[in-house]
Amino acid sequence: EKGGYPSFMAKEIDEQPRAVADTLLGRSDAAGRLVLDEVRIDPAELAAVDKVVVVSCGTSAYAGQIAKYAIEHWCRIPVEVEYAHEFRYRDPVVDERTLVVSISQSGETMDTLMAVRHARELGARTVSICNTNGATIPRESDAVLYTHAGPEVAVASTKAFLAQITACYLLGLYLGALKGTAAPEVVKEVLDELHAMPEKVQTVLDGLERVREIARFMADSRSVLFLGRHVGYPVALEGALKLKELAYIHAEGFAAGELKHGPIALIEAGQPVFVVVPPPASPHGLHGKVVSNIQEIRARGARTLVIAEEGDEGVVPYAEEVIRVPACPPLLMPLLTVVPLQVFAAELAGAKGLDVDQPRNLAKSVTVE
Ligand code: M6R
Repeated sequence: EKGGYPSFMAKEIDEQPRAVADTLLGRSDAAGRLVLDEVRIDPAELAAVDKVVVVSCGTSAYAGQIAKYAIEHWCRIPVEVEYAHEFRYRDPVVDERTLVVSISQSGETMDTLMAVRHARELGARTVSICNTNGATIPRESDAVLYTHAGPEVAVASTKAFLAQITACYLLGLYLGALKGTAAPEVVKEVLDELHAMPEKVQTVLDGLERVREIARFMADSRSVLFLGRHVGYPVALEGALKLKELAYIHAEGFAAGELKHGPIALIEAGQPVFVVVPPPASPHGLHGKVVSNIQEIRARGARTLVIAEEGDEGVVPYAEEVIRVPACPPLLMPLLTVVPLQVFAAELAGAKGLDVDQPRNLAKSVTVE
């Protein structure tokens, strides 16, 4: 069943271009309009939504954090992203005009299910982004947008994550189109860019030999840090989670802007730090700000492992290693930048002789609180 791969995870990482392509398949027409037939909520009701709350756990929660940047940009309404287990025990401000989006690969995560039930009790509309047909969460939601990653066997989520991010973009564009905040040309342009992503993910996958080598050299690391900014921030969090789950190494992700507010104290000679760099074309000069961060940590002796867009020469002077990804619009970057981090964690765990498909203490689907 592993089709010649050493692990399900290796196979699933390789299936990511397909997972993105299949999640996009049949969801737009020739004119570049979105066709989300499954989202069976009255369009007028959706257009009136004035707040989105995303509830999810683990890797799915990082997909939610990425969704926040995209949905706020296209829909001009606030998006809150909350761990499902925190949401249900607060007194959340949710009403009929709130859209609660749950994200779950399995569709059976108890914390997320309970959050959805809670949201419904409060009168919210609920949409489930889910990878498992007919699972409990989509059955209990008003609507479902299935991700088409195919069955994910490895405990650590990879292809489902890319499919979730893709589905979030589709939902954001759909909502923006209904609200009139995303112009038809914008929707079409982003859809075209999305359709180009599977090939770019493949390009990233084809160029990871050096990442594997670095991972093997680093097999006895005690701690690895991850920095990112904008949509690169949740990618940093996901990179850290993958390394904890698979390699049992202490790993932490930070928002790069937060560095000087504390985490920079952790930097000492030899500390490995992955940095997910926003493309040079990013708004607000974000690229330059992150390059300064790399410079700062490098000056303190950090080993800087930099993930940057092809052609971004600004990072070169301060990077011990540069891992390249193809150019794409800043909001879509996570589909590319997370891939080297997945492979790094899997390879390092493999080098330590660990079972990457079944890490200790973890279950694929967490159906208890
Ligand atoms: O099935 P779900 O997406 O609801 O699962 C949520 C988390 O339990 C899951 O993403 C977990 O963090 C994975 N082990 C991540 O690799």
